[in-house]
Amino acid sequence: PTGQLQDSRARPLRDLRISVTDRCNFRCAYCMPKEVFGKDYAYLPHKALLSFEEITRLARLFTQHGVRKLRLTGGEPLLRKDLERLITQLSTLRTPEGQALDITLTTNGSLLRRKAQSLKDAGLQRVTVSLDGLDDAVFRRMNDVDFPVSDVLDGIEAARTAGLSHIKVNMVVKRSTNVDQILPMARHFRGTGVTLRFIEYMDVGATNGWCMDDVLPSADVVRLIAADMPLVPLEPTAVGETAQRWGYAGADGRHDPSLGEIGVISSVTQAFCGDCNRARLSTEGRLYLCLFANQGWDLRELLRNASDDATISNAIAHIWGQRDDRYSELRANLPPDTAAGRKRVEMSYIGG
Ligand code: GTP
Ligand code: 5AD
Ligand code: SF4
Ligand code: SF4
Repeated sequence: PTGQLQDSRARPLRDLRISVTDRCNFRCAYCMPKEVFGKDYAYLPHKALLSFEEITRLARLFTQHGVRKLRLTGGEPLLRKDLERLITQLSTLRTPEGQALDITLTTNGSLLRRKAQSLKDAGLQRVTVSLDGLDDAVFRRMNDVDFPVSDVLDGIEAARTAGLSHIKVNMVVKRSTNVDQILPMARHFRGTGVTLRFIEYMDVGATNGWCMDDVLPSADVVRLIAADMPLVPLEPTAVGETAQRWGYAGADGRHDPSLGEIGVISSVTQAFCGDCNRARLSTEGRLYLCLFANQGWDLRELLRNASDDATISNAIAHIWGQRDDRYSELRANLPPDTAAGRKRVEMSYIGG
């Protein structure tokens, strides 16, 4: 293991996003619409899920190939029983240089008030909360299970109190749905130390009926906010980062760190595949090399047929070595609507 693994486009592997459950207690229309994910929907049976030991073993092998960041996703990861135990196991892992990994989690925030402290105690360092609006009616409509926004805001507060750092909030912007929430959200989080990020609505999965008309380009989001609260561009903090950063300017026109920053994630209008270093591990142990892939590589089979570490490690190297994915760059050149109709895995299954 050298840590120098590269794919066919010379991109290293740095970020492993691990989905720990395909279930969620929300029914956001762009992700798990009720018509599809109804009472009779067949979720994965328990024995299909990777165990915590299996996940930790894979994560350890991935760190030997360059992974430095682990993100737990779902579905809603806090629905997975005893998740704290997994975090404790993952936090014992070290890079070949002896460093701890960056361990974080993306949650809808509904269970965060109850769990923030135990997650922190287990070794979680930071957290990202999905929140699509501040207006209670808009939020209840978007999660489609009538969940109140105040509980999510309490969850964010609990995360802060527990000492989780770098709290981020992700807002998916959908033109017909929550554009009027952009400014209230920006005003609410400005100066709080929470970084708000706006995500362009994407054509992930095959159930959300995506169309380009629903995408509000990030450039419009930045313009809208800057007209009210001046912004200055900030340098990226890492290669291959998903978000472009903008800092709130103080009276002197420069970034005022006490006011904080926002981010825009523009996968539709400004694809960032060029240095994409992310892999995704599904709940049942399939490795996906792109958010828009329609096929994953079965690592669970290797784990369960008693392969040794070297065999699994070589398999990972082989899979990443042949990777060629760059869907968001290609999307721009697809004829309209073929993008929407393409067969793809659901985001609730591989995680965002
Ligand atoms: P930080 O380290 O906190 O900056 O994390 P991150 O931006 O890698 O992760 P996060 O889960 O917060 O990503 C935010 C959103 O960006 C995701 O929920 C997706 O909607 C989108 N996203 C993340 N990675 C990719 C990617 O590789 N491709 C595309 N198209 N979108 C992505
Ligand atoms: N487009 C953009 N972002 C999405 N997310 C889920 N579905 C989509 C989509 N179609 C976001 C969630 C959450 C993260 C996991 O991904 O809101 O912030
Ligand atoms: Fe659940 Fe997140 Fe999907 Fe909404 S976007 S249904 S909260 S996994
Ligand atoms: Fe990476 Fe695929 Fe997203 Fe491009 S579309 S940034 S290759 S996950």
